[in-house]
Amino acid sequence: MTVTLILLKMLHLTALVFGAAASLGNIYILLAKGPHDLPAPEFANALRKWFRLSALGAIVVLWATGLLLTVLRHGWPSGPAFNIKLTLATLLLAIIVYLNLRAGYWARRGGPPPYVPYLHGIGAASLLLTVMFAVAAFG
Ligand code: HEM
Repeated sequence: MTVTLILLKMLHLTALVFGAAASLGNIYILLAKGPHDLPAPEFANALRKWFRLSALGAIVVLWATGLLLTVLRHGWPSGPAFNIKLTLATLLLAIIVYLNLRAGYWARRGGPPPYVPYLHGIGAASLLLTVMFAVAAFG
């Protein structure tokens, strides 16, 4: 593996770390909404913004480095695991871009619609599955 490929893979997996923190962070905020939750909406919203922007940066870097790794190292892998991984990565990209585009509008309207927690759940499940299918494809 050349230095360039090693650096790309380092970036790919580092972005994955940031993406995982953002995705699971959103899930933990959702889980913390129990009877013991302290009312701290501004703190939670500040965290949500960090998670939202981290997820956006991470998915952009994952796609950029992933495409380069694909082209420079593997040609275009044809197995089902790679295709499933790419499908899930596309779903993640769509969810993250949508949430980032709508965030400002929802903030002005007093909060996000009720389906947003489901998007976080689908996103987190997709992320975990993407990692599993990445290992199946390349491991
Ligand atoms: C949410 C998005 C993504 C996640 C979580 C993810 C995760 C991973 C992980 C965990 C590996 C290491 C697998 C191993 O070496 O066993 C990997 C490798 C790889 N990923 Fe991704 N990936 C994502 C998006 C993408 C995209 C969009 C592409 C291509 C368009 C891509 C292309 C690759 C390639 C080519 C490798 C192999 C690198 C090598 O040569 O060792 N990834 N990815």
